[in-house]
Amino acid sequence: MSHDSLIQSVSDAYEAQFGTKPAHVTTAPGRVNLLGEHTDYNGGYVLPMPLTLEVCIAIGPGEKPGFATLYSQSFDEICDIALKGSKSNHWSDFILGSFQLSDHKPDLNASYRLAIGSSLPMGAGISSSAALEVVSLRAIAAYLGVSVDPVAIAHTARKVENEFVGMPCGIMDQFASSVGAEAMALFLDARSMEYELAPLFPDHKIITLHSGVTHKLTDGSYEQRVKECASACAMLGINQLRDVGMEDLDRIEALGGVETRRARHIVTENQRVLDGVAALKAHDADTFGRLMVESHASQRDDYAITVAETDALVEAALAAGAKGARQTGGGFGGAIVALVADDQVDTWCEAMTRDHPETRILDVT
Ligand code: GLA
Repeated sequence: MSHDSLIQSVSDAYEAQFGTKPAHVTTAPGRVNLLGEHTDYNGGYVLPMPLTLEVCIAIGPGEKPGFATLYSQSFDEICDIALKGSKSNHWSDFILGSFQLSDHKPDLNASYRLAIGSSLPMGAGISSSAALEVVSLRAIAAYLGVSVDPVAIAHTARKVENEFVGMPCGIMDQFASSVGAEAMALFLDARSMEYELAPLFPDHKIITLHSGVTHKLTDGSYEQRVKECASACAMLGINQLRDVGMEDLDRIEALGGVETRRARHIVTENQRVLDGVAALKAHDADTFGRLMVESHASQRDDYAITVAETDALVEAALAAGAKGARQTGGGFGGAIVALVADDQVDTWCEAMTRDHPETRILDVT
């Protein structure tokens, strides 16, 4: 669904549910990560890109003081949430957390109505939750008539996820959704928070393909990786895995067990982001593609976050002519991302969807 039709459809849904037009309509995109997986909470480098798929919120005043009435188009569900309430492990948590943690301090004794729609599938590893947080914070700011600082929104959105929802994620998704620019890669140093936008390859497309396997990172598998990295840091006597680099691989090998594998992924993945940014600037798609393939192998063998379906799909993507392919996002299923030369895009997409009917092309940029 295009940006304009999503806005139209969510505005229409608001009007149909609430009988008036919304005061404001805002959107925020999902993201695909090109290189740099699980590096963000280790103070490392990431290279995501916003997608054309988005979440949209229409907002206006409500009639029940202390409550927001939410209508979700995706679930065709309407609910009232107490604005000073606590989380209920429901999709509304992302919105409630945004009301409570917004820097703009919306009046929690007032009343609001929101209609929410999305062109972004959930559980595909392309940041539907970060987009929902960012769009909620944008909607609240628009309603209050204050201008937004995209970097500040990204930090607050992460706070919603970490402190309200309880998922110990890094900053990548919220940053890509709030600060990223269409069709540009976003190179972010998740420690210094310095960032740079880099144009994509002029003669290749980035294709995001849903594997059909949905994931849920709140089931503890993500948190377990966070803990394993902390354990590797304790053994190495450092604060964050960003404090070690390729020159420390011998020390990392000596740790043994799971700590070696997790730390080796982070160190080599950070290097792949740096090499990937250089390849992007040099228009060297072959090198970039090779780095994607190495990144997938490292996610599979060292970080243990891929599943048989995404492993097989990456193989199939390469066999069908992609320059590079890898699982993208938090892992345990979700989407893969592939780099495909412009003149092969049509045949590649046809072959992938024909031979793997469980998959779905989500975005071609
Ligand atoms: C999820 C998290 C991000 C990041 C990725 C893995 O998407 O929200 O912060 O850690 O996983 O790269």
